[in-house]
Amino acid sequence: MSQLDPLLFGEIDPPQRLLMGPGPVNAHPRVLRAMSADLLGQFDPEMTGYMNQVMALYRPVFGTGNRWTMLIDGTARAAIEASLVSLVEPGDRVLVLNFGRFGLLLTEILTRIGAVIETVDAPWGEVVPLDAVAAAIERSGPKLVACVHGDTSTTMAQPLDGLGALCRAAGALSYVDATATLGGMEIAADRWGVDVVTGGLQKCLGGPSGSAPITISDAAARHISARRHVERGIRRADIADGSGARIASNYFDLAMIMDYWSEKRLNHHTEATSMLYAARECARVALGEGLAARFARHAAAGRAMTAGLRAMGLTVFGDDAHRMTNVTGVFIPEGVDGERVRAAMRDHFEIEIGTAFGPLQGRIWRLGAMGYNAMKHKVLLTLGALEACLRMEGVTLPAGAAVAAALAAWEA
Ligand SMILES: Cc1ncc(COP(=O)(O)O)c(C=O)c1O
Repeated sequence: MSQLDPLLFGEIDPPQRLLMGPGPVNAHPRVLRAMSADLLGQFDPEMTGYMNQVMALYRPVFGTGNRWTMLIDGTARAAIEASLVSLVEPGDRVLVLNFGRFGLLLTEILTRIGAVIETVDAPWGEVVPLDAVAAAIERSGPKLVACVHGDTSTTMAQPLDGLGALCRAAGALSYVDATATLGGMEIAADRWGVDVVTGGLQKCLGGPSGSAPITISDAAARHISARRHVERGIRRADIADGSGARIASNYFDLAMIMDYWSEKRLNHHTEATSMLYAARECARVALGEGLAARFARHAAAGRAMTAGLRAMGLTVFGDDAHRMTNVTGVFIPEGVDGERVRAAMRDHFEIEIGTAFGPLQGRIWRLGAMGYNAMKHKVLLTLGALEACLRMEGVTLPAGAAVAAALAAWEA
């Protein structure tokens, strides 16, 4: 047997990076502590008690009274896929609001499901006007309307007031991916009147990736339960199958996952205990701070970041009226190698900023300030470091202007 590298036996000891990209971000220390708590059996009354607490804690986070508010084990994409595969059958018509990479992700998942997809598009850097959505709903008569709230690829936040009413009037269900905004910008599932909303921990909730909160309206839950086909090895006389088409994924079968989170405690997967502890603590931290205060903190961080970048003479990407508060896109100045600047930020300052995807790759950086990192000193450090790294690349900048402008904007 060949000799194993001694490095393999070293403890994990990552550098202290400050993660100021579009997510993941540094987790709140309370969340990391909660994750190290002892494990429990999945039907231990303490464990099922924690599951019920998670349901109660995430209702206010989603702005809902929905009974079905719980976690999907997996990254944010797991909850997106669970929602779409459980709501949509092959041949169903789905309308997708598409204004960035994550709108395209919805179409990608829906294509695999076999949906008939129509999109209503906006250029990257803009959002889809509600009247365009209304016209598209009227034209295509969808069973589901799906969209992203904050698309980190473009840093735009789609306004969602009125979307639910439009969908209901047309007899359509609605789905929203709020991965990047949950806990940082207001999510008002009930006021928006949307049926299913999903999130992730690794952005504004300040946790690690790997657990995806979800909320499901009663109307959507009825639709999903009608597709219930309990797997053979765990059938019970008190749980009847529905008459709808079987959901094409076992792991992401929301009907069985709802039965697992209900008092029936139907065994599905083994709940990811340490991730549930993390999700529970993320919600406790958010609600302890107060959601309004938290949204204001993210707004201050976004304002400060934007003002600082502009004071450096850089051009901020996208439509000011629909900017996410927690991620800001900025054009890489002419002649500057974006990847060299990112490497310098990392090597000299231990700060990570984000690159970009698709048509924006190599054109913009994305700077995030969210969750535990939406703090004044972290925004100021990032701006100061970026100024220094741009100077190293020979860019002439007004010295100290970014930090001064950010400080003023934070207080504004
Ligand atoms: C808006 C949005 N949706 C979905 C995802 C996918 O999340 P995950 O990587 O946790 O699966 C991301 C990740 O950046 C995102 O920003």
